[in-house]
Amino acid sequence: MKIILAENSGFCFGVKKAIDSAYETVNNKKNNVYSLGPLIHNKQVIEQLKSKGLKTIENIDDVKNGKVIIRSHGVPLNIYDKTKENNIELIDSTCPFVRKVQKKANEYYNKGYQIVIIGDKEHPEVIGINGWCNNSAYIVNSMEDIKKIPLLNKLCIVAQTTITEEKFEKLSKEIVKKAKESKIFNTICNATQLRQESCKKVAQKVDAMIVIGGFHSSNTQKLVKISKKYCPNTYHIETIKDLPLEDFKKYQTVGITAGASTPDWIIKEVIDIMSNFNNHNENMNSMLNSLSDVANLEKGDIVEGEII
Ligand code: F3S
Repeated sequence: MKIILAENSGFCFGVKKAIDSAYETVNNKKNNVYSLGPLIHNKQVIEQLKSKGLKTIENIDDVKNGKVIIRSHGVPLNIYDKTKENNIELIDSTCPFVRKVQKKANEYYNKGYQIVIIGDKEHPEVIGINGWCNNSAYIVNSMEDIKKIPLLNKLCIVAQTTITEEKFEKLSKEIVKKAKESKIFNTICNATQLRQESCKKVAQKVDAMIVIGGFHSSNTQKLVKISKKYCPNTYHIETIKDLPLEDFKKYQTVGITAGASTPDWIIKEVIDIMSNFNNHNENMNSMLNSLSDVANLEKGDIVEGEII
């Protein structure tokens, strides 16, 4: 059996940074530790952090003392003032790419530009960015939304980091028609796109694909959709427990990818168990035993062997 791990899979840079800092904070905690909103869309990680004492809150006013972690999506500007007033210690894990968007929105709002955010108005990242321009932004997610923007002198367009390039191109072309002067900042982060491209690349050359990630995680669902297009034998799992191992007897090449909120330990567990699953096969078993450590595979690595 050949196992191919997608080159770009699992935690993106921003999520990894936030999770590492959350573990470090709860492991050294002397006080209450809170997360403002769920830290990540991954049940297993949330449960683990909860068992170590991390409490999730929705409102900063609920905190009287202790530390508050700001997740990678970021928060509105007034949260910083509130925490300062109440002497609450912040662990700021806002992704640097999101911070860049917040700063652009703030800078151009202060210069007198009308801010337009291309993205989903319900998404915490977009709510956060809007809070850096006094909640005055027009939030556009479709051509229909553009009709609500009046004719303006100056506007500044920024994007939610995870939207597609196509959406940004299509909508920004129309939005600029609403003003005499426009500043356009393509603030899309390429982590999502890279994961989707890697998934497609692997799915095209395997008999079966395993996509690991929360059943409710939208970026994982998107990977499943892409994978199914190129490889009908696609299995969406949250952990190894969801995988029907017996099915895999018939596959020679298996691809593995994971959503942006899937930690490495869950990915490694799948690779490890998949390998041991072939214990009934002596050749496979000896091949696997000769591997130094399957669980230490790096992304993009290929494990090859024979199935008899
Ligand atoms: Fe940051 Fe991009 Fe991830 S904006 S949180 S690195 S998807």
